Amino acid sequence: MNYDEFLQKIFNLTGIDLSLYKEKQMKRRVDSFIANNNCKNYDVFYETLTKDTKIYREFLKYITINVTEFFRNLEQWMILKNEILPKIIKKNMKIWSAACSTGEEAYSLAMLLSDFIDLREINIIATDIDDVVLEKAKKGIYSNKSIEKIPEEYMKYFAKLDENNFVISEELRKNIVFKKHNLLLDKYPDSVDLIVCRNVLIYFNDKAKEEIYKKFYSSLSTDGILFVGSTEQIIFPYKYNFAPIKTFFYKKISK
Ligand SMILES: C[S@@+](CC[C@H](N)C(=O)[O-])C[C@H]1O[C@@H](n2cnc3c(N)ncnc32)[C@H](O)[C@@H]1O
Repeated sequence: MNYDEFLQKIFNLTGIDLSLYKEKQMKRRVDSFIANNNCKNYDVFYETLTKDTKIYREFLKYITINVTEFFRNLEQWMILKNEILPKIIKKNMKIWSAACSTGEEAYSLAMLLSDFIDLREINIIATDIDDVVLEKAKKGIYSNKSIEKIPEEYMKYFAKLDENNFVISEELRKNIVFKKHNLLLDKYPDSVDLIVCRNVLIYFNDKAKEEIYKKFYSSLSTDGILFVGSTEQIIFPYKYNFAPIKTFFYKKISK
């Protein structure tokens, strides 16, 4: 089979449409994974995937790129804390960390929000396409290294678990609902006041990005805010009825 046929088979097998990710970059990643697993072509590799759950999981992890960290690009989180949240915070608001990977982003959000409000009074959902990262997120166990850059004031949410790891406090964990969601396929939540979606749109092609912006628009409540990653500024935000309010922050404009 050729690359396109392989992508179709992967879609049938996993529900992930790799043709909507940037083609050159994705093909390079797929081909190098296949070569590293000593498979000589797409047919052999596909056969391996259907038989070997370990390789199947590794492949999914590899193509979905799970790299993340707490307060990634801290300056932007401080803008969220100092300039955005004070204006939008309210009881029963709904916040969505989309493509949350292993949970660091969702927990960073919860830490900031807890400066303003009792977390039981708001609704935080965190989603990702990958079950494996979601399992890790739910456990809330992080290595000593991964928590190094967390601002001192938030260290109260971490308890030492063993020599190498910390665990996130129950207070944060129990107030975030982690669930599986594919941005390219699944229905989006509605009436969301703040969507944090960072460092995933860069992997998608323009067609997929356009669709996602439109779905984010519908997903947001009136005056809802979208917070994107450092290399993910929307080129023509007004085309999607988003007004830039700060670099990396957009506000929904009512039509
Ligand atoms: C680089 S991580 C970004 C994590 C976090 N948002 C951050 O900025 O640190 C990208 C995440 O997007 C997820 N992802 C990839 N394709 C996706 C899709 N179609 N729907 C939802 N999540 C997806 C991956 O599983 C991965 O966890």
